[in-house]
Amino acid sequence: MKISRRKFVLSAVLLVPVSRLMAESVDFKRNYFQHGVASGDPLQDRVIIWTRISPINYADTALGWEVSTDPGFLNVVKKGRTEISAHSDYTVKVDVKGLKAGCTYYYRFSYQQMMSEIGETKTLPKELNGADFSMAVVSCNNWEDGYFNSFRFLAQKPEVDLVLHLGDYIYEYATGEYGNPASGRINEPKHEILTLQDYRTRYALYRTDQDLQALHAKKPFYLIWDDHELANDAYKNGAKNHQPNEGTWDVRKKAAIQAYLEWMPIRAKNATEVRRKFEIGDEIALYLMDERSSDRTRQMDNTNPGFNAEERQIIGESQYSWLANELKKSKATWKLIGNQVMFSGYAVAKGFKLPKYNDWWLGYPYERAKVLDLLEREKVGNAIFLTGDHHESFVLAVHQEDKFMEYTKSYRQRPLAWELLTPSITSKNADRRSESEIAAFEKMLHNKDINPHLVYGDIKSHGYFIATMNKKRMQIDYYFVDNLLTNVANEHKSASFILDAETFGITSN
Ligand SMILES: [Fe+2]
Repeated sequence: MKISRRKFVLSAVLLVPVSRLMAESVDFKRNYFQHGVASGDPLQDRVIIWTRISPINYADTALGWEVSTDPGFLNVVKKGRTEISAHSDYTVKVDVKGLKAGCTYYYRFSYQQMMSEIGETKTLPKELNGADFSMAVVSCNNWEDGYFNSFRFLAQKPEVDLVLHLGDYIYEYATGEYGNPASGRINEPKHEILTLQDYRTRYALYRTDQDLQALHAKKPFYLIWDDHELANDAYKNGAKNHQPNEGTWDVRKKAAIQAYLEWMPIRAKNATEVRRKFEIGDEIALYLMDERSSDRTRQMDNTNPGFNAEERQIIGESQYSWLANELKKSKATWKLIGNQVMFSGYAVAKGFKLPKYNDWWLGYPYERAKVLDLLEREKVGNAIFLTGDHHESFVLAVHQEDKFMEYTKSYRQRPLAWELLTPSITSKNADRRSESEIAAFEKMLHNKDINPHLVYGDIKSHGYFIATMNKKRMQIDYYFVDNLLTNVANEHKSASFILDAETFGITSN
């Protein structure tokens, strides 16, 4: 029997089981949530949940959301509807309030009869009560440098309560300008991002990354920006990577901050609110700093006569006063300063190249000394700088030093603070130098005559560390991946340290 093409197509459609037709339409609708879901800024009773609708259906300008105590959504404890708008690039944030402390919650969004994937999040406990609290510290995930494999491994760690991202969540460069061509990852847009639409497009690209999406869906985040969310070496009134022919800095900075606030699952509604604190009982206090947009003056060479001037700021007077008051009154066992750039620094022997430190705290000696004096004068115990930006892993004791960039005090003496640097997720460090060069530099770093305050330095690995805290001690575990150039990689636990709350001394674990 001869069947016409039309008849054949019709019969073929009728033969497809109804369930598969439905599944296909569901697959199509999944595209509404192509940037995933995320949660952040958990407090004891609330947490921000985030998603984005794309492409928008202009007939429907609201979405539904619900929060449940179980992943099957049998016990929905909060739900509502929220407007979607072009003003926020169709990103949506809900501050879900009235939750219980120290609980795991599941959340999802619905739009046009389509459900998003299910996100998991956790409110802060009221106090630790002898339990551990585990915070993963990450920074510097550059798209063109490779795959965010570390984020996938981190998402799979049930013991991690939350992720602290210290900045460089995106990089602003044009394609090919900063990265590893071997990764095959290409920026979108391809040019350097300058306008609001450019910044939004770059965030949208990063948030298509499956590993980043998986981590956001699994863990709540605290986030602060570093320079590249604006432009390289950003300060209040400009950036090294901002030229006059790229428009005015104020307009660009405003656009960059707007896109950041739209895309990050944080509570802040403006740049000032990005400086914030989180507390767990009298055990953990976390202070998140803005060392870029609010008051930082321009970087300067230390040969310049004005280098030590009082006017040169990295955090500014009001942020300093806020931090000083908080540190003075805090009774927390662990006082964590979530911070962008390296505070302590290190020295190098003759013949080795010192990284450019003008963008670090060392480049602002007046304010750096003020913070050191504060830690000493007020006997602020157990202060710990958590630092990104540097792309390399370091554990350093922070002391007053008599001479700039001369480190004479050992880590065996009780320091004023500790500093823990997290490596980059992908961004370039010394990884592409020769093995012998890397080994020589690391050996020099560990020389006690040069850096008596240095406990640990690794300049070639990528990954993150996890700080697991209780009332008595903090354990610091570094995790590194062995590949960035594809999404096939292995992770291994590397250096591990124990910080004692009583003695404030550190030991290798
Ligand atoms: Fe970076």
